[in-house]
Amino acid sequence: MCGIVGYVGPRDSEGILIAGLARLEYRGYDSAGVAVIDGSGGLGLRKRAGKLKVLRDDLAEHPLAGGTTGIGHTRWATHGGPTDANAHPHLADDDKLAVIHNGIIENFSELKTDLLASGATFRSETDTEVAAVLLGREYRANGGDLVEAFRATVARLEGAFTLLAVHEDHPGLVVGARRNSPLVIGLGEGENFLGSDVAAFVEHTRKALAIGQDEIVAITPGGVEVTDFHGDAVTVEPFEVTWDAAAAEKGGWSSFMAKEVSEEPEAVANTIRGRIRDGEVAIPELDGLDELFTGLSRIIVIACGTAAYAGMVGMYALEQWARVPVDVELAHEFRYRDPVIGPDTLVVSISQSGETMDTLMAVKYARERGARTLSICNTQGATIPRESDAIIYTHAGPEVAVASTKAFVAQITALYLLALHVGRVRGALGATEAAQQVLELEEVPEKIRWVLETQQSRIEEFAGWMADTRSVLFLGRHVGYPIALEGALKLKEISYIHAEGFAAGELKHGPIALIEPGQPVFVLVPSPRESPLLHAKVVSNIQEIQARGARVIVVAEEGDAAVLPFADEVLRIPLAAPLFEPLLAVVPLHIFAMGLATAKGLDVDQPRNLAKSVTVE
Ligand code: M6R
Repeated sequence: MCGIVGYVGPRDSEGILIAGLARLEYRGYDSAGVAVIDGSGGLGLRKRAGKLKVLRDDLAEHPLAGGTTGIGHTRWATHGGPTDANAHPHLADDDKLAVIHNGIIENFSELKTDLLASGATFRSETDTEVAAVLLGREYRANGGDLVEAFRATVARLEGAFTLLAVHEDHPGLVVGARRNSPLVIGLGEGENFLGSDVAAFVEHTRKALAIGQDEIVAITPGGVEVTDFHGDAVTVEPFEVTWDAAAAEKGGWSSFMAKEVSEEPEAVANTIRGRIRDGEVAIPELDGLDELFTGLSRIIVIACGTAAYAGMVGMYALEQWARVPVDVELAHEFRYRDPVIGPDTLVVSISQSGETMDTLMAVKYARERGARTLSICNTQGATIPRESDAIIYTHAGPEVAVASTKAFVAQITALYLLALHVGRVRGALGATEAAQQVLELEEVPEKIRWVLETQQSRIEEFAGWMADTRSVLFLGRHVGYPIALEGALKLKEISYIHAEGFAAGELKHGPIALIEPGQPVFVLVPSPRESPLLHAKVVSNIQEIQARGARVIVVAEEGDAAVLPFADEVLRIPLAAPLFEPLLAVVPLHIFAMGLATAKGLDVDQPRNLAKSVTVE
């Protein structure tokens, strides 16, 4: 939640900050603001409730005096509603100090009470302003050392935070601190950047440094200094950003979501690329890590939202190919139930952003309990991979739309690569069988392309007719079940329509009572050739709901004629082995959700109340 950007260098900072915020707006869009130290050493501030556009228009009409040092923020409101006053930056030290924040300061209420008692005044309801006032006081107390003031301030804060500050007495300096909230450094030539993630500065530099937990960073045009909260210097790991700036642009597409759905074939292909050698899975990141897999007796997959549904799909592959028992848990439930885990448990976390607080905390908890950890992540420099014993990056490229689409298929792909690898390392999967699955996986991108090319316009058309629908149900069995859940989540998230996903077999245990004449129900039908038994069961389920008047939309394999008598609409996917069907069947559901939200005139990229990266618990 909340996007943060900082700049120091020879260029006018305002434009750089606004461009950085535009790339981070997916992190929160309740309000936005910038603070710039201007050429004459004054601090210029502008902040406005609403999306970044409101701030941008305001600045265009009433520009700030230029300045080459600044910070910018885009907010997802936690403490205090989305108003101008609660927007960041917050000022302190007689309005000479500006502070922005991502996270939640859990003890802000006690701190605020103490500060009020000692005469401080506040202009907002935020926890951030408490940190700003504290920082201002420490700065005055120590005679004007901003880094030392940070050190004294963070020692009093509890919770999660990334804080950045500029002070008008220090043009050419931006100071930041992080605990359990993201911050990365971008290294330029005679200029440096800070950002919640690399998207903030990738158009200026691809050289980056990942800052660890509990560290303070000071950037100037000529240098970067990182110390821990005690003042000891720390070594930071440089990395090269592989995303290019154009990948995070909308290009000619109507929305980022439309662009990202169209990139689903590449997301799968790029995640496979470089990880197959001579027909065998060979994941360079896992070289020398066989011991992670040989001694394990159990895998627990933890994730949230769409990533958790990818984990559910991955469970089938891990159990089938690696013959290891697998449980999938929502990360926010996992660590509050005293799970039985230890050194023989591999905890696999899945996160597009690599910053989801619930998932991060669950990974830390698992490590503290002695479990081994592996993360599947899409974002370089993110926190969760840094907290894990091993990483497999998905190479979906930057995902900007709040609704996750291409990252979902990339996550399933990475899980399948992992399952094949673990199966081979543990001797559970023969070379011939593994090679056959690799061939199937390699065919997936082309098959997704076929779905996009042949089905998209029809799906968009009937999604348009359904703009007034109030509720949609999704049914699936086996690997189709998590896809039903994903289809429902996507629809809720961007079209604000009530939607539920069910295991088709569960229908008769209750949900069938929801079926009334005209109720739209999507049914994911397994292949009649590959899974005849399951196919027959699902066709029976279709008949049960059709008999009760449901409007049935099936997603079925090309050539499956058995569904025709019972379906109002048939969406086709190519023939694939059962475990590969989810990668194809989810595509029509992504297109449908996007088409329906568009027909309702909604912003598919920035749905209400949501943010892409959920960095609060
Ligand atoms: O960044 P993560 O993959 O950890 O995010 C997890 C969920 O918050 C995310 O998948 C969310 O459910 C999406 N907005 C769904 O489209």
